[in-house]
Amino acid sequence: MRIVVLVSGTGSNLQAVIDAVSSGALDVEIAAVGADRPGTYGVQRAADAGISTFVVDFRAYADRAEWNAALTAATVSYTPDYVVSSGFMRIVGQAFLDAVPDRYLNTHPALLPSFPGAHGVRDALAYGVRITGCTVMIADAGVDTGPILAQAAVPVLPDDTEEALHERIKVEERRLLIETLRQLAVKDR
Ligand code: GRF
Repeated sequence: MRIVVLVSGTGSNLQAVIDAVSSGALDVEIAAVGADRPGTYGVQRAADAGISTFVVDFRAYADRAEWNAALTAATVSYTPDYVVSSGFMRIVGQAFLDAVPDRYLNTHPALLPSFPGAHGVRDALAYGVRITGCTVMIADAGVDTGPILAQAAVPVLPDDTEEALHERIKVEERRLLIETLRQLAVKDR
């Protein structure tokens, strides 16, 4: 099973996937890692691991449709079975989704449908929930609305900060993403 991973940030979830692949714990091929802006640590991690990388810089395109077309072309050129958004902070358009139908996975640091959007951890903390967690889903054109594949719960501790809670959620998020990929790889055989 070939995957392309899309990142916008530090790529710690990506690193967990890279490590799982190189240790033999996860039998997939990371065909490429792409980003929506230059200079991400995620792309650096991929390059360090000898994985092909590409950047489709959102700011370099006249509009979202043009950017989306370029992102789609770059991604499909690696003929992935699945595309994984690993902290990719942009909503992709229908052309992208049509190119990888039901094959675009996303993770979110909250128990969807609660707390969708870019600040799932902050919003859960502000609401005062005692349990939050993470979700792996198939992404669609909405904001964190696609069909849910897996979830894990993470307790909110007294005096938690957004950063501390997010770090504990990410531990579960990595485990869940790798487990989901493992199951999909078995099915894809
Ligand atoms: C993850 O919690 C992801 O769900 C969220 O951003 C985080 C990505 O972190 N959207 P990293 O870039 O993998 O370190």
